Amino acid sequence: MLPALRRGARRRRTADTPPRRRRLATPSFQLGRLNHVAVAVPDLAAATATWAALGATVSPPQAMPAHGVTACFVGEQLELLEPLGAESPIAAFLERHPAGGLHHVCHEVSDVAAAARDLERRGFRILAPPALGAHGVPVVFLHPKETHGTLLELQEASGD
Ligand code: CO
Repeated sequence: MLPALRRGARRRRTADTPPRRRRLATPSFQLGRLNHVAVAVPDLAAATATWAALGATVSPPQAMPAHGVTACFVGEQLELLEPLGAESPIAAFLERHPAGGLHHVCHEVSDVAAAARDLERRGFRILAPPALGAHGVPVVFLHPKETHGTLLELQEASGD
């Protein structure tokens, strides 16, 4: 058994670890439907060729320099990401997962900025202020440690 799971074990608390009670307070927003799942790949052309061979409809690649990635959509709900530029935020992930792997899941919320403010107020770490994502609507990412190892993207619902 891991030491931290021992009965009565105390969580280490620092100045930026707010009380669990505050973190788990009822949110001011509702987490909407799963919008997409994103997989980081080392070679986008090879990955899209594979998905096309599997019968999928693949979108043309879209370079997103602000996010350091080039993205393709396989159907509507699978996003493939390839690093773009020297500072790509997915480069370190691909070093750990050289063949590629699940990078993030994305859920919709009605107002990304409001959701991010509510989460930060309760002590959740947001990686960067809201920015336009692959669908041209605002997105934010939570720190993966906040969601038990899976990076969570929140995307503004487009209302369709
Ligand atoms: Co995404």
